[in-house]
Amino acid sequence: MSDQQAQKQAAAKAALNYVEDGMILGVGTGSTVNCLIELLPTVKLAGAVASSQVTEDKLRALGIEIVDLNFAGTLDIYIDGADEVNEHLQLIKGGGGALTREKIVAAASNKFICMVDESKSVEILGREFPVPIEVLPQARSYVARQLVSLGGEPVYREDFVTDYGNVILDTYDLDVSNPIELEKTLNNIVGVVCNGIFAANQADVLLKASSDGVTTLTR
Ligand code: A5P
Repeated sequence: MSDQQAQKQAAAKAALNYVEDGMILGVGTGSTVNCLIELLPTVKLAGAVASSQVTEDKLRALGIEIVDLNFAGTLDIYIDGADEVNEHLQLIKGGGGALTREKIVAAASNKFICMVDESKSVEILGREFPVPIEVLPQARSYVARQLVSLGGEPVYREDFVTDYGNVILDTYDLDVSNPIELEKTLNNIVGVVCNGIFAANQADVLLKASSDGVTTLTR
């Protein structure tokens, strides 16, 4: 097993400590979350709200009841991974394309617990990983031009459609030195459904794994 995979598993195990019997758990998407999902049968959940169809299918396969967010009320916790995280627990997410549903479930939860391996920590977001932006299909070219005018280099994610039937523009070279401002600016472009900067609603707890163990950071 690679060191990175071992770190994902260690972060997931640390996240499991926050999960209690009887909870309706918000569950994210991605390879780190998959490590958590494997551990969930050790807890008696009342149900789970899934942040993607992929996660929903995995949870169902384990016999975990899927709850519609509209009937779940405010969730105690949402657990997910990230593509990048800075020292303020602000994130870039959406590498797996589930950013919109992830942002909705995170916003509807009291506590967002984020699990990462050490490769995800950065000083400034967006220098290496592009910002994924979910866009209504008809607005793709218009939004791309707006992103270029902001200094970005949007790349259309080929052969990919989100759970909501939209497309993704993975956008390089944006200046993410003020993540809260840029998150708002991107949301204001007509045709943008959601962007992968999680800064207004950043993580509340960061479980950061390294080869020395898991560090817990809170905000
Ligand atoms: C899914 O859309 C993403 O936001 C994932 O949470 C993020 O890409 C982290 O995925 P990994 O755990 O696979 O790195």
